[in-house]
Amino acid sequence: MYKPDEKRYDSMKYNHCGKWGLKLPAVSLGLWHNFGGVDNFENGRALLHKAFDLGITHFDLANNYGPPPGSAEENLGRILKQDFSAHRDELIISSKAGYTMWPGPYGDWGSRKYMRSSLDQSLKRMDLEYVDIFYSHRPDPNTPLEETMMALDHAVRSGKALYAGISNYPADKAKEASRILKELGTPCIIHQPKYSMFVRWIEDELLDVLEEEGMGCITFSPLAQGLLTNKYLKGIPEGSRATREGFLKSEHVETAHKRIVGLNKIAEERGQSLAQMALAWVLRDKRVTSVLIGASSVGQLDDNVEMLNNIEFSDEELANIEKVLK
Ligand SMILES: NC(=O)c1ccc[n+]([C@@H]2O[C@H](COP(=O)([O-])OP(=O)(O)OC[C@H]3O[C@@H](n4cnc5c(N)ncnc54)[C@H](OP(=O)(O)O)[C@@H]3O)[C@@H](O)[C@H]2O)c1
Repeated sequence: MYKPDEKRYDSMKYNHCGKWGLKLPAVSLGLWHNFGGVDNFENGRALLHKAFDLGITHFDLANNYGPPPGSAEENLGRILKQDFSAHRDELIISSKAGYTMWPGPYGDWGSRKYMRSSLDQSLKRMDLEYVDIFYSHRPDPNTPLEETMMALDHAVRSGKALYAGISNYPADKAKEASRILKELGTPCIIHQPKYSMFVRWIEDELLDVLEEEGMGCITFSPLAQGLLTNKYLKGIPEGSRATREGFLKSEHVETAHKRIVGLNKIAEERGQSLAQMALAWVLRDKRVTSVLIGASSVGQLDDNVEMLNNIEFSDEELANIEKVLK
């Protein structure tokens, strides 16, 4: 039987989500990969135990995580029931709706019809009464923002979600979404954008908007799906994400290789792994509430959370990083 580490809150840092009372761990764990029906269930279970032992109180999901879609939520539900039933109040569980989940006109994007059905399905799969954060996973160009925000407002008012969030919204849409939700009386407390040393669009405008609106920011793929680690320094190892179908392609590894080698040298000089430096670098901006990582082994979780012991950068280190990234 799983017994959480009694010292689990000692070394993690918890940050307020923007101006709001909710705190998130500086490192959160996402279940996009490695928790699906095709993955090893016991490995996923061990990852969640380790994460919680390290003070990671936030697990991030979406309706479509798997594969197959929905299976990550089902697996999480099983693990919550087996191991975390006494700890629900110590956990922040999020889910999202926005990508294709079932056939027909009501199975994706941002209509109220889809968002409501999707949340009900997610709760059923996870066997939960509520999620802590419910996100609109992407803006829908063919649905008025009011409608998608009404769906988030309704999710919160009905008690099926505690907080509303948005993901992948550009700065102008995020501002508008925040305004609409404020008017409806349910604040938008968090944005979930992609951000890493390799993907920096949020620096242009979005972070300023989030600060003005008092919203938190949880950044996904901070390790660029594993590129910003020591994993691909010498080619593409067996079993890594770049060997699996889909998201990280071998050409991404080839394009990034020179920069990875340069960044790894700076990390070594700081006495850190490249993964640790990449995560610390994202957290250098105090508007970032949490880095949302993925992991395929408990060793990766240890490595990544250890980063919190060295998160400061000198001006020279930051300038050297910029030189490598140019
Ligand atoms: N809102 C959205 O649209 C959206 C989109 C994408 C992701 N997300 C969220 O963000 C979460 C994280 O995304 P991500 O998985 O792309 O994040 P990531 O942290 O950039 O990449 C995670 C991968 O990096 C490798 N890795 C992690 N730590 C390592 C270490 N210390 N040393 C070596 N390799 C290491 C592992 O790859 P291997 O499997 O190869 O070992 C791991 O699966 C997702 O689970 C999801 O919750 C949200």
